Amino acid sequence: MNRQGLAVQLGPLQLKNPVMVASGTFGYGQEYVDMVRPDLLGALVVKGISLEPRPGNPPPRIWETYGGMLNAIGLQNVGARVFVEEKLPWLKTFAVPVIVNIFGNTLEEYRSLAAMLDGCPGIAALEINISCPNVKAGGMVFGTDPHMVSQVVAMVRSATALPIITKLTPNVTDITVTARAAEQAGSDALSLINTISGMAVNVETRRPRLANVVGGLSGPAIKPIALRLVWQVVQAVSIPVIGLGGISSTEDALEFLIAGARAIQVGTANFVNPRITLEIIEGLQTYLQRHGFSHINEVIGSLQLSESSTD
Ligand SMILES: Cc1cc2nc3c(=O)[nH]c(=O)nc-3n(C[C@H](O)[C@H](O)[C@H](O)COP(=O)(O)O)c2cc1C
Repeated sequence: MNRQGLAVQLGPLQLKNPVMVASGTFGYGQEYVDMVRPDLLGALVVKGISLEPRPGNPPPRIWETYGGMLNAIGLQNVGARVFVEEKLPWLKTFAVPVIVNIFGNTLEEYRSLAAMLDGCPGIAALEINISCPNVKAGGMVFGTDPHMVSQVVAMVRSATALPIITKLTPNVTDITVTARAAEQAGSDALSLINTISGMAVNVETRRPRLANVVGGLSGPAIKPIALRLVWQVVQAVSIPVIGLGGISSTEDALEFLIAGARAIQVGTANFVNPRITLEIIEGLQTYLQRHGFSHINEVIGSLQLSESSTD
């Protein structure tokens, strides 16, 4: 499925289409291979990895909510060494850019991880996760403080020649401040949003639904918020923006692209319909034909702003 007119340029990254899978919702690719051939995707973002393996938070870690879900997985992952030795060789056999989502508890851990992955063939880019709300140290703490955002991005920048995407948290007062901090520190692109902090309570037991008490809300419920944040960030920076948050259909993807996102990621919707990314790629192609566009670039950032057009 090498679709005509769907190729996009994301800073130094060339993608055959703008549709990626979001970190943590597609494992390391292998889990989905019977349903989605990785090389059909624009890019594959793997589950966030840290220097050492992490068991994650105790269960229950998932709770379904109206139009979405709460999760507090806590960045469970196999660790960088196992990823490089056991996951990457398989991923490398597909013609798909592999974007590795990285996470550290300290600045030094981000640096070591970036340096280690820098020398590994088969990795197209690093996505810096400074936005996970479900861990006690690091994670969102880095992403909410513009000074820390600068430090993490600069640290990763100094350790790797790979393209860097910084993944922003929505759990801030003004996301354009952290977006600009990441841009100025050398990020090649931004991705947003990560989950929005939330919680749920069992009224019979009067206990939290999640063992971690709070979790990250994702899925269709967060889409309008994500879209607004993407729109604001697109105005504030000159590096490319990848939009995500509740995208579950071609129309959702188009909303983000029209608002100015250069590419999109699909997260929670993969759990509902594992083939949704392929349907969106197909749907984008059909949309181009229906509107007489020859290239997706004619759609990206094409939001019509006039006083009379508010539908
Ligand atoms: C179960 C689960 C695990 C996730 N793990 C990660 C992760 O490891 N790293 C990361 O940056 N984001 C992680 N995310 C956040 C998603 O990549 C995405 O930013 C978020 O879910 C919003 O998109 P969506 O509404 O399409 O799911 C995770 C989300 C879910 C639901």
